[in-house]
Amino acid sequence: MKAIRTGASPSTLEALEFVDVDAPAAPGPGEITVDLKASSLNYHDYAVVKGMIPTQQGRIPMSDGAGTVSAVGEGVTEFAVGDHVVSTFFPDWIDGEPPQTAFTRVPGDGIDGYACEKVTAPTHWFTRAPAGYSHAEAATLTCAALTAWRALFVDYSLKPGDTVLVQGTGGVSIFALQFAKAAGATVIATSSSGEKLERVKAMGADHLINYRETEAWGAQALAITRGRGVDCVVEIGGAGTLDQSMLATRVAGHVALIGVLAGFAGPVQTALLFSRNLKVQGLTVGSRKMQQDMIAAIEANGIKPVISDTFPLERLADAFRHQESGGHFGKIAIEI
Ligand SMILES: NC(=O)c1ccc[n+]([C@@H]2O[C@H](COP(=O)([O-])OP(=O)(O)OC[C@H]3O[C@@H](n4cnc5c(N)ncnc54)[C@H](OP(=O)(O)O)[C@@H]3O)[C@@H](O)[C@H]2O)c1
Repeated sequence: MKAIRTGASPSTLEALEFVDVDAPAAPGPGEITVDLKASSLNYHDYAVVKGMIPTQQGRIPMSDGAGTVSAVGEGVTEFAVGDHVVSTFFPDWIDGEPPQTAFTRVPGDGIDGYACEKVTAPTHWFTRAPAGYSHAEAATLTCAALTAWRALFVDYSLKPGDTVLVQGTGGVSIFALQFAKAAGATVIATSSSGEKLERVKAMGADHLINYRETEAWGAQALAITRGRGVDCVVEIGGAGTLDQSMLATRVAGHVALIGVLAGFAGPVQTALLFSRNLKVQGLTVGSRKMQQDMIAAIEANGIKPVISDTFPLERLADAFRHQESGGHFGKIAIEI
């Protein structure tokens, strides 16, 4: 079967190889074989293929995978041949607290991922895909959607009437916008692009801030909320945006600390944390059970992912170059 492998260590985009590899074995007891049809790009995958996250040479990248079950092993009752399924980000994290090992065995990073045509794996590495979703749509859920879901509904308890601030228009943030609007929240959306702000407005964003033009966007968010502050920030920038996020948040509000797009480390106004009684919650994606809950909510609310661009598997490096340029809106899909 065909697969993409990292061709250097540390990995580079130029060294990614489109190669023939052995097809997986037939499923054993409790396993399924999935014919993969789609994947989608996350910043985490970008960090792997750019060598920012060290992985072994020859790793098959991509945490997200969706496709059709083509064989089931002995004792499998959850899935049948023909079912549409989507991968989970942490194969070892089923429910409850994450086990110690969960974070070291992420597909496409600690173990081989889904930039390939077929995989055989334990049943619990996948969940069913939402009804009516294409494989590409399903493949957007594993990382970006589940992270947004957990930020809003697991770590924070979003309710109608709350105000949520989402940063930029990448995968996590566009899902957060969609989930927050479906839950009856007011959304303040930021972007570096006026054209992208028009697109989030069309999707229901209530207030818009261009974070390039308005450096003190935290103060602007505070003004939009008439000085009260937002209830929850979906914080994807990290060190470079956290101060503004804290300034934007109400007393005892919630900052979901997710990303590093504006820096891995840096000075932060820690005094704001206690003076405002803020809760800053770091998170890494979520469990299989959270994914199942999210899929139920997606189906009940008719939410469809926003995919701005699609590339074939063999052009994975070009897809990452497009992500690097910031030209995307929502998700970039890979067809396998
Ligand atoms: N902790 C976790 O479990 C988890 C899970 C998923 C993602 N993440 C992290 O979350 C971040 C976003 O991931 P993603 O996959 O959604 O990335 P993505 O799709 O590549 O998002 C890129 C977009 O983010 C926006 N952005 C970039 N720098 C920004 C800044 N300084 N302020 C505000 N917005 C900025 C830009 O939007 P505009 O073009 O509109 O300006 C850019 O187009 C990454 O750091 C990723 O590692 C973490």
